[in-house]
Amino acid sequence: MTDKLDIIWKESTDSTNEDVKRHIHDIDNLSVLAAEIQNAGRGQRGNVWFSGEGANLTFSIFLKPELKAAKQFRISQITALSIVKFLEKHDIKASVKWPNDIYVQNRKICGILIENTLRGDSIIHSIIGIGLNVNQESFPQEIPNPTSMLMETGKTFDLKMLLEDYIRSFRQMITERLSEDTKDTDLEYQEYLWRKDEEYSYRDMRTGNIFIGRITGISETGCLSVQKKEGEPEEFAFKEISYIL
Ligand code: BTN
Repeated sequence: MTDKLDIIWKESTDSTNEDVKRHIHDIDNLSVLAAEIQNAGRGQRGNVWFSGEGANLTFSIFLKPELKAAKQFRISQITALSIVKFLEKHDIKASVKWPNDIYVQNRKICGILIENTLRGDSIIHSIIGIGLNVNQESFPQEIPNPTSMLMETGKTFDLKMLLEDYIRSFRQMITERLSEDTKDTDLEYQEYLWRKDEEYSYRDMRTGNIFIGRITGISETGCLSVQKKEGEPEEFAFKEISYIL
């Protein structure tokens, strides 16, 4: 790994994930594309990602991971951990709302959209899109429960320096941890898991039923393990469970 950081800054684009997709044949592993403005920022589940112009970090990292498709949750785990640890460095205590939203108590500070391209049973490349709320102080009302680094610390940040610093730590973490076979990443991810070991209400999206349960951890395949207050332990895949805030 070289020390040189390939970060391309654009004044505006539709979505940094889409922009990276258009360049996958001419960009190197671990290149980063950041935009001051996204005109069509994308969130999970087809949602729009809103970010005030020039206020926050919106960027995508291009990764050629050499990883089996069955292990793709690893990329989510490492990315989420890299963000919580980075926020910790800035005195913000954040958690991972499974699978990869980053929360400060009940407020979302960062969203992650990972798009993997598979060939056979391998991942050939991965686009990791990150929207980190940094200097924004107020958000439109329709955004449910946002926060930002400024709102949490009272400080404003230089976006370019902040991104460089983050990318350095991300590169180190992904390089060290993607190939590892130890349980450290799983354990650490679970340590930062939002709402772990406490009772809350959830909706089972397969049946529509609301139930009370306790998150107990993450399964080997990246499903959320929940002990229902009344009933058996269950595992939920992405989109099969929704948190009631
Ligand atoms: C979510 O929480 O719904 C995921 C949000 C991901 C937003 C980032 S911003 C940079 C990258 N480009 C996009 O269009 N989306 C991701």
